[in-house]
Parts: sequence; C-alpha cells; structure tokens
Amino acid sequence: MEKTVNTSGSFDCFKAELSESDFQVFSRFIYSEYGIKMPPIKRIMLQGRLLKRIRELNMGSYSEYKEYFFSKEGQDKELLQFLNVVTTNKTDFFREPVHFNFLNDTVLPAFRSQSTNGQPFKVWSAGCSSGEEPYTISVVLNEFERLNPNFKFDILGSDISTQMLEKAAKGVYQANKLVTVPMELKKRYFLKSKDPHNQTVRVHPLLQKNIRLTYLNLMDNLYSIKETFDVVFCRNVLIYFDRQTQERVINKLCLQLKPGGYFFIGHSESLSGMNVPLEHIKPTIFKKL
Ligand SMILES: C[S@@+](CC[C@H](N)C(=O)[O-])C[C@H]1O[C@@H](n2cnc3c(N)ncnc32)[C@H](O)[C@@H]1O
Repeated sequence: MEKTVNTSGSFDCFKAELSESDFQVFSRFIYSEYGIKMPPIKRIMLQGRLLKRIRELNMGSYSEYKEYFFSKEGQDKELLQFLNVVTTNKTDFFREPVHFNFLNDTVLPAFRSQSTNGQPFKVWSAGCSSGEEPYTISVVLNEFERLNPNFKFDILGSDISTQMLEKAAKGVYQANKLVTVPMELKKRYFLKSKDPHNQTVRVHPLLQKNIRLTYLNLMDNLYSIKETFDVVFCRNVLIYFDRQTQERVINKLCLQLKPGGYFFIGHSESLSGMNVPLEHIKPTIFKKL
C-alpha cells in the first residue's frame, strides 16, 4: 500500500474511501438492527467515523473492515465499538427545559397527591447518551425529595453506545457543560476538583444514588426490562428513525408506561398521525391513555 506523509509529518497509510456498495451494506445493517436511517448523503460522514476504528485496528481498507465486521469474530468483538462510532450522542444538562418544568410543576405534585403505597416514582431516560438527561432528571427529583422527605424515586438510563453509558456511569464532565444548570443547583449537585487546573466537575453522589444504566436497543422485539414507569423520556432519539419504526418503538415504550404516565419527545420530533396510545397534552408532552 502507498504511504503518504500527512501535514503533521507522520505516515498516513490510508487513502481509500468507503465505496457506495460497502456503504449500503453498513447502512442496511444499521437500519435493520438499530432503526437508524443512514441515507446515501451520510456516506462521507460514516467513512469519517469508521476511519478511527480502521486505524485502531491497523487495517488497510474499508472493505477489509467490512469483511471483519460481518464475520463471527467481528460481530462478537467489534459490534459495540461500531455502535460507539456510528451513533450521534449530542446532549446537554437541562436540554429543552420545558420538560423539567412540567415534571416539577405538574407531574410530581400529581404523584404526591395519589396514594402510591410508598412506591417509588419511576422515570426512564431511553437513549440517555452520556448521562446529562438522567442526571438532570435526578436533580429535579432530588429537589422534590428535599421538600417531600417521604418521596422515593428510581431512574433508568439506557442506550446502545457503551462508551456513552461508561461516561454516564463516571459522571465526570467538562465544567463548561454546566452553563445550562442554574447556579444554586450547580453548587448543590456538582463537585469541583480540588486541583484548580482541572476543568472537570463530578456529579454529587446524591445524583447517582437512584440511577441504573443499561444497554438496551429500542429496536429489540422484547425489552429486557419488565417494570413500568411514571414517565418516559425518549428525546432526540426517534429523529434518527423512519416514521414506521418510530411508531413501532413508541408502542413498545408505551407498554412500559403506567396508565396516566407521561411521555416526552424532542422538540423537533412529532407523533402526529401515529397510532399510539397517547393523548397530546402540550407540544412534545403526552399522557398514556
Ligand atoms: C442525540 S442523543 C439524545 C440524548 C438525550 N436523550 C437528549 O435528548 O439529550 C441520541 C441517543 O440515542 C441513542 N440511540 C440511537 N439509536 C438507538 C437505539 N436503537 N436504541 C437505543 N438507543 C439508541 C444514541 O446512541 C444516542 O446516545
């Protein structure tokens, strides 16, 4: 193989591109197994994302990577790494704050007024990425617990990116990720490093105490979790699926939602025209029938 010297002066052995036909093989696989649409316009993006893995594996071409990936060994060893590079994981603390206000102002007071026999309030963050969403939920629920000492809660975060789940489990973030967190909450729930040069913050153990994190593919026929929830957040995940897949996934998520429970979607997503057991309450906020 031809070796070229790149601008940083190091040897770059890699000049190949992801062919249309290899792209289609990956694209079909990602769509059928994980629901994620990968139209032809995304070929260059996928090429860029897979390059990192090809370099790490010391491979010479995309077709070599494809052969390996679809082999028995590749499916055993490479699948999770592949998911780490093909998923889009953008997220923030207090992203789309209307949902957290609604949770605090409407959902939690209604839960408090029900007789729940000491059952915990249960929330699922489906497609939780690196944890900012479940930790934001945890901030809101911890605040509610401060005022209502008998209140108990339980949060599940799930994703298909194990790299993101590991980041979520660590709970360490760049300090500048907290710009969206109100000052008082930042002081109460995030710990600065003692080293002034360390620009990271760690979530307070209070935020982690009631959170479980798990790998779960929303495309699975049967979900491994059997419990039901008071609220399901599935925000900015459905956007990667086509309408048919969205409808199927939402119906499965609704099986895990208690009657009267709430379902939140992202602001650029819509359920209009879908056959799902949800009543529209406000834009992006739904209630299980
Ligand atoms: C853009 S992030 C959204 C994170 C968070 N919900 C938010 O709104 O900030 C989308 C997440 O969905 C996950 N995802 C994509 N397809 C999935 C699937 N089939 N099952 C579970 N999670 C999936 C991705 O790995 C990614 O972390």
